[in-house]
Amino acid sequence: MTFYGGNELAAVYEDALGDGFGLIASNIAEPNTMMGLMEGAARVDSDLLLQLSNGACTFAGNGDPIAGLKAMGTYIDLIAAQYDVGVFLNMDHQTDLDRIQQQVELDIPSSIMIDASHEPFEENVERSRRVVEMVEERGADILVEAELGKIKGVEDEIVADEAFYTDPEQAVEFVDRTGCDLLAISVGTQHGVAKGKNLELRPDLAADIRTALHDHGLDVPLVLHGSSGVQPDQLQSMLRRGVCKVNKDTHYQYEYTRTAFDFYRERTDDIVPPDSVDDDRETFFNDVEWAPNKDTFDPRVTGQRIRDRIADVYADLAESAGSAGRSRYI
Ligand code: 13P
Ligand code: ZN
Repeated sequence: MTFYGGNELAAVYEDALGDGFGLIASNIAEPNTMMGLMEGAARVDSDLLLQLSNGACTFAGNGDPIAGLKAMGTYIDLIAAQYDVGVFLNMDHQTDLDRIQQQVELDIPSSIMIDASHEPFEENVERSRRVVEMVEERGADILVEAELGKIKGVEDEIVADEAFYTDPEQAVEFVDRTGCDLLAISVGTQHGVAKGKNLELRPDLAADIRTALHDHGLDVPLVLHGSSGVQPDQLQSMLRRGVCKVNKDTHYQYEYTRTAFDFYRERTDDIVPPDSVDDDRETFFNDVEWAPNKDTFDPRVTGQRIRDRIADVYADLAESAGSAGRSRYI
């Protein structure tokens, strides 16, 4: 794989923690978003952390998440070779220990997130610890992210109706007992469509968690999930408080669809016949004068626009998170 493993990713986080910047961890489920992100990262000299959720792997693998991981892993690997920036892959919100074991054995991801945050504390510790052991037993070059607290909203297969903010002292015990490399915290962000102005963000709590961990010699980077609605000034307040990984999915999903929507809306006449003409798809418009325009409906035309837009969005996010100009590989 030409994308990088856990040791390299740990070095990026060390830089990030020391210098107060963050990596935008960007979810993908198909190649257009992936290529847009790589183009955007390369444009601003930022390393790039991609993420695949279980649902994304299942989608990419036509129902088989391991096939999806292999297919996307290969795809990422081949395209990452075209760029100089460091490209990493995190498995996002994993809940199934058997599937995690398979991912560890494949040794494709740079990091894996075990999400047992919906379980009682002891069970969360147990499952998260088990994943750290799997990686150690295998000697795999993979970091482990675990979560404490609950983030409100819907992300892929994870649903939480209510938020539970992370407790700093419990965070110390959790990181100490699990041995996780990164800690996902709940400090007021929400998965899904959320408006920053409505979020009850607690950068002070992130700072308390960071300080409590630091005081116990546990300098793990903190992870902010549900960051699509977080505004640049809100992001800054988190970055200065130990947050080094900032998860975004929903924002790209919207940009993907909106880009296609705008493009087709402007060119409706190239795709659907006017009301006066029979919408005769079965014969591919054999019996009517009107014909669709291939210059518009070729999926590569919209696909390229989506890639360009995602590249612009990512480049701005990397500037705002401070990872722009910080690639370790350029
Ligand atoms: P958003 O829904 O805010 O994009 O959150 C993404 C996320 O946390 C992925 O793990
Ligand atoms: Zn998340």
